[in-house]
Amino acid sequence: MSLFNVYPLFDITPEKATGVFVYDENGTEYLDLYGGHAVISIGHSHPKYVKNISDQVSKIGFYSNSIQNPLQVKLVAQLVQQSNCKDYQLFLCNSGAESNENALKLASFHTQKKKVISFKNSFHGRTSAAVAATDNAKIVAPINAQQEVAFFDLSDLESVEIALQKGDVCAVIIECIQGVGGLDESNTEFYKGLETLCNTYNALLIADEVQSGFGRTGDFFAFQKHGIEPDIISIAKGMGNGFPIGGILIHPKIKASYGLLGTTFGGNHLACVASLTVLEVLKEENLLENARILSEYFIEKAAEISEIKKIKGRGLMLGIEFSFPISELRKNLIFKHHIFTGSAMNPNLLRILPPLTIKKQHVDQFFEALKKELS
Ligand SMILES: Cc1ncc(COP(=O)(O)O)c(C=O)c1O
Repeated sequence: MSLFNVYPLFDITPEKATGVFVYDENGTEYLDLYGGHAVISIGHSHPKYVKNISDQVSKIGFYSNSIQNPLQVKLVAQLVQQSNCKDYQLFLCNSGAESNENALKLASFHTQKKKVISFKNSFHGRTSAAVAATDNAKIVAPINAQQEVAFFDLSDLESVEIALQKGDVCAVIIECIQGVGGLDESNTEFYKGLETLCNTYNALLIADEVQSGFGRTGDFFAFQKHGIEPDIISIAKGMGNGFPIGGILIHPKIKASYGLLGTTFGGNHLACVASLTVLEVLKEENLLENARILSEYFIEKAAEISEIKKIKGRGLMLGIEFSFPISELRKNLIFKHHIFTGSAMNPNLLRILPPLTIKKQHVDQFFEALKKELS
């Protein structure tokens, strides 16, 4: 028996983690500027998180969605309050792909249409409709390819309008800042334009905030900088700080009916407590503000390095673009300097997705290592 070999692995075995650090079986300390792929929001093993989840599992960890679960009600209230997405409704599931799958399905139910518009370099997950809306032919199986998805260049509002005019599109799905694709973002005119077009042609605008949500960009959601009101907002990753949970926030104009969506595990007691704790800590420790301050500091430090071509992204969802492929640099950062960073579809881009609790001294540690590697 063996594991199905789909991941090229770095030979490191984390055994424990606290705050912004991960420790392997020999006790070697790694600075985590990757956050397990933008998942760790409030820091590893936050004491409140450990306590709340432990307390909850000693009471009840799971029961089905056919009973009352006041934790779900508490979660939607907190989420709506902290995100400022007034009157949105919440459906809970378990992962980012599942959030987008439900978002697309709901858009199709709501509009009774089935075509989707997505954007080049997008990533929305690996389930059926989500992967079909992902711009990476290598991960789309024939069974997924039957979905009808049109891909346009980011910012190409004109082509989007021509496609919407046909009247058969149920949803436009977009990452306001592209994650896996390489941190590209368009301008407010474009996002507002998409919103207007979706309203005009009765298609739903889905903001994929799986990676950028829950404060990572310094705003609760990345789309908020552009003043739009998406019809559906998909969330996951930082929402549970490592506990698997996802969801969609649904505009009040979309009405629920029994059986429309469903899940066994989604919104279970442990997942709700994990996410409620994330929300509590984000607020108590002012982590959105920290993301903004540390982002500025990071960008200032990056400006001192001539080899850096460009800094992309916002808050603590950043990409450092070089004029050369970063794979060797990334390996050296891990194995020589014990710093985790991320890669992207763009081979020249190093991704920085740390816990939102990161401090200046951690940024300094990274730039000292980077300078050594570049000298
Ligand atoms: C923007 C975005 N959407 C969706 C997903 C899929 O999330 P998951 O891996 O939890 O299914 C990801 C994962 O990287 C993502 O970055």
